[in-house]
Amino acid sequence: MTKRAPIFLAIDCDDLEVALSWVKATQNSVYGFKMGLEFFATFGSEGVRRITDLTDAELFLDLKLHDIPNTVSAATRAVSDLKPRFLTVHAAGGAAMVRAAASAGPNIDIAAVTILTSLSSTDLSDIGFKSNPLESAVRLAQLAVSAGARAIICSPLEISAIRTAVGADVSIITPGVRPSSSGSDDQQRTMDPKSAISEGANYLVMGRPITSAWTEGFSALQDRAATIAAELI
Ligand code: C5P
Repeated sequence: MTKRAPIFLAIDCDDLEVALSWVKATQNSVYGFKMGLEFFATFGSEGVRRITDLTDAELFLDLKLHDIPNTVSAATRAVSDLKPRFLTVHAAGGAAMVRAAASAGPNIDIAAVTILTSLSSTDLSDIGFKSNPLESAVRLAQLAVSAGARAIICSPLEISAIRTAVGADVSIITPGVRPSSSGSDDQQRTMDPKSAISEGANYLVMGRPITSAWTEGFSALQDRAATIAAELI
């Protein structure tokens, strides 16, 4: 088997047959596939299973759970059968909620989302946060790890501060990554893949820089994924 780059490909797609083709075209290049709320709301567990039946690559279920501990615990148990490597929860749900997810899914690496990158300093202050986005993200990362999270999702610009705060054993996963050859789409503060890994990220989440090649066909997508992966392995 060829070595795969530490990339989770974001399956942001409303056509399941197309999503399956993306997986076939890229599975030898990327480490795994990220399916989020949109995918899950559209295709449900059955859709996720169609993908995981096709590949032995890892599953990153990005459901960003945020509810009372009992509900998060039940939701974590409900998706355990899908055997995700990572499942996201919001660190702002509090230590008891993160702990509930971690104990309901002992074989899943619970990945905590700290501060959504869509929130500005003003937004944070409006919802009652006293510190700036970076300080808030570091504090939430520490809280989540103490409560049993084994991974943190953060922006490329937060990798280094969060790595220092949580230590070497926690996986850091970052979206907002753009190879220098591609545009930034709607991502504001991006970093190229190699720099994000040198900053301390373990895994990158990438979507459009790879999947945009699909408009030119299966082989173009296969080549794009292999080229981007080759820069990292
Ligand atoms: O296409 P692109 O590479 O921008 O996709 C990035 C993926 O990561 C998308 O699924 C997006 O929802 C997700 N994401 C992000 N920024 C965050 C959190 C998640 O881009 N702060």
